[in-house]
Amino acid sequence: MRMPSLVVTCAALGVLLGMPADVTATNSWPVAEQQQVSDTTYGCLICHAEKRRSFTMGIHSERGIQCHDCHGGNPASFERDVAHRGRFLGSPDKLETIQLCSTCHADAGQMRQYGLPADQLAEFRTSRHGQLLLERGDDNAPTCTDCHDAHTILPSEDARSNVHPTHIAATCARCHEDETLMGGYGIPVNQFSEYRESAHGNAVFEQANFAAPTCTGCHGSHAALPPGVTEIVNVCDKCHVLIGRAFSQGPHASATREGTLPGCLGCHSNHGTERVSPDAIASLCANCHEADSRAALTGMELQEKVVYAVQELVAAETAIAEMLEAGHQVSNERFRYQTALTSFLERAQVHHSLDLDRLEDISLQLRSDTELIKATAESFAEERWEHKLLLVPVWFLTLSAVVFAWFKLREVER
Ligand code: HEC
Ligand code: HEC
Ligand code: HEC
Ligand code: HEC
Ligand code: HEC
Ligand code: HEC
Ligand code: HEC
Ligand code: HEC
Ligand code: HEC
Repeated sequence: MRMPSLVVTCAALGVLLGMPADVTATNSWPVAEQQQVSDTTYGCLICHAEKRRSFTMGIHSERGIQCHDCHGGNPASFERDVAHRGRFLGSPDKLETIQLCSTCHADAGQMRQYGLPADQLAEFRTSRHGQLLLERGDDNAPTCTDCHDAHTILPSEDARSNVHPTHIAATCARCHEDETLMGGYGIPVNQFSEYRESAHGNAVFEQANFAAPTCTGCHGSHAALPPGVTEIVNVCDKCHVLIGRAFSQGPHASATREGTLPGCLGCHSNHGTERVSPDAIASLCANCHEADSRAALTGMELQEKVVYAVQELVAAETAIAEMLEAGHQVSNERFRYQTALTSFLERAQVHHSLDLDRLEDISLQLRSDTELIKATAESFAEERWEHKLLLVPVWFLTLSAVVFAWFKLREVER
């Protein structure tokens, strides 16, 4: 398939101004229909051979797009001056690149057949990046090719892509870890280093769990802006649905709406996101609440309950291990343990409502499961002990027989 070549310079300006791009325009330079970038007769690659590999690896080449579709010029010529003549774009700068890519990618009619959204430019405009580049001409802001590369452009599902979930953070960090670049704007450069160590970074990098967010999971791919204080809960509860629901029923939701609490970030950090460990809950509440207040006392009660639940789970786990070692069937106990674990996770979610009555119900359920496991283990242990007791007469008889035989032997010897 050959893509229609573009009248890049004029059509692209139209896109930026919000006019539909003229993508049906055909080029005026002579190109043989069968001539492809892979052919030795394709002039641009005679001189720009180093671009062949990086370009043919990408998706544009796969779709039949060629050098002159973006750069213009005459690919049938082997002479530089002739090849570079006509509507030759040369190397586009950052602003021209936005225009160039958007000529196709902002055209929903053209992108529909590939199932691709055509909203990248529209979203980019609303981002901090877009504001800087498009409105102020600030070249420190990224253009399309800073994140996608100019020639090896690959879909995000491809593991080699700059925008594959495992590479996105590094793509952003090229600028956001650069102190000289970011110093001028007075924003921190620790996002990647914190994210890498967080529960989310750990899920993405260590467990290839792409349900966890990388930078774009919270900031969007093209609309990057820090969320406002009142928007943060929406960013997080897109994925943490049940927690979001519990949170909205508790007292902290109204504090968030009023802007006195930064939503989830009051207790979890944005880039170094971690679970709150059981023994740190009360001190967390004490960060914002007076020592003897109702809220602080609630925090102490919550901590006590979570610490206790953890102890119960550990005890149940130990009991199962012991039963297994003694050779017992433990499939029922394992099933019961899973139920207890589910209660534990449900508890951590409901925790966000701070509804002590509901939490007490879940705690009771958890305890009934762990108590049953421990009771089964105890009855097995008792059985084992009785079994050992039963063996005492057997040992006694065996020992007597040996002693008797020994005396007999001495007698015979004598
Ligand atoms: C005969 C060799 C030759 C051919 C054929 C040729 N180029 Fe070039 N091209 C060069 C050289 C040499 C340079 C670097 C000097 C310059 O900018 O003119 C260059 C530079 C470029 C640049 C960078 C310009 C800049 O502003 O930095 C682009 C883009 C480019 N060529 C694209 C093409 C395309 C597209 C084709 C085919 C339509 C093509 N070239 C055909 C020799 C060639
Ligand atoms: C999808 C559009 C697109 C296609 C197709 C494309 N380029 Fe480019 N090219 C760009 C952009 C954008 C730049 C600007 C530099 C950047 O953003 O990194 C560029 C830069 C260049 C440059 C100058 C800078 C450099 O990297 O040396 C050369 C030379 C070049 N391209 C040659 C080619 C050749 C040869 C082909 C075909 C094999 C090709 N391009 C295909 C978009 C394209
Ligand atoms: C001539 C039209 C055209 C131009 C210009 C163009 N693209 Fe594309 N682009 C396409 C087509 C067609 C596809 C293939 C869609 C597919 O197969 O899924 C594509 C695919 C992509 C993809 C992969 C999408 C996915 O996830 O499947 C990215 C990313 C991309 N282009 C970025 C760019 C960037 C950045 C530029 C500018 C340097 C650019 N494109 C210029 C037509 C174009
Ligand atoms: C700050 C980095 C960044 C910039 C700038 C950027 N992109 Fe992207 N783009 C991404 C990431 C990351 C993805 C992967 C999306 C995902 O998996 O969520 C993506 C995905 C895409 C896709 C696949 C379809 C989609 O929307 O998910 C296309 C097409 C695309 N970008 C085109 C462009 C174009 C055109 C521009 C310039 C107007 C551009 N991008 C600018 C980071 C960027
Ligand atoms: C080419 C360099 C570059 C790349 C790549 C880049 N950024 Fe940026 N980003 C900037 C600059 C420059 C600013 C402006 C800083 C400011 O004004 O505070 C910025 C601002 C931001 C802001 C707003 C910060 C604020 O407080 O205003 C967010 C959020 C952001 N970038 C996220 C991302 C994400 C996510 C990625 C990767 C998908 C990314 N950036 C890739 C250069 C880059
Ligand atoms: C779990 C969601 C989440 C992830 C993942 C995430 N961010 Fe953020 N980010 C936020 C929130 C929320 C804020 C706003 C914090 C505030 O207002 O205090 C923010 C703020 C920012 C800012 C503004 C400056 C600052 O540090 O406060 C930049 C720049 C930024 N993020 C870039 C990134 C980059 C780069 C990555 C990937 C390495 C990333 N973010 C990953 C949620 C996230
Ligand atoms: C794109 C989906 C997504 C978004 C957005 C998201 N998370 Fe997560 N988060 C996950 C996934 C998936 C995990 C599970 C990782 C694992 O299993 O280790 C997780 C894990 C966590 C954990 C650790 C849980 C544990 O058991 O260790 C906390 C705390 C957390 N997220 C809080 C947040 C906060 C706060 C925000 C908003 C600033 C947020 N998340 C945004 C998907 C998301
Ligand atoms: C007042 C402090 C506080 C706020 C605000 C808060 N959390 Fe938590 N979060 C905690 C505590 C404490 C735990 C540990 C609970 C436990 O172990 O039972 C926790 C646990 C979690 C977990 C791990 C639960 C699991 O399933 O293992 C996630 C995910 C999480 N919070 C996300 C969020 C999100 C999303 C928000 C915003 C809607 C939020 N948190 C707001 C204190 C808070
Ligand atoms: C980042 C600060 C912050 C943290 C941490 C925090 N809270 Fe709050 N909390 C608030 C704000 C703000 C309000 C609303 C104003 C008020 O009533 O004090 C509030 C209100 C409350 C209320 C309802 C009002 C009241 O005093 O009875 C309770 C209960 C409460 N918090 C419990 C907790 C518990 C339990 C924890 C620890 C798990 C906790 N909070 C952690 C900021 C925080």
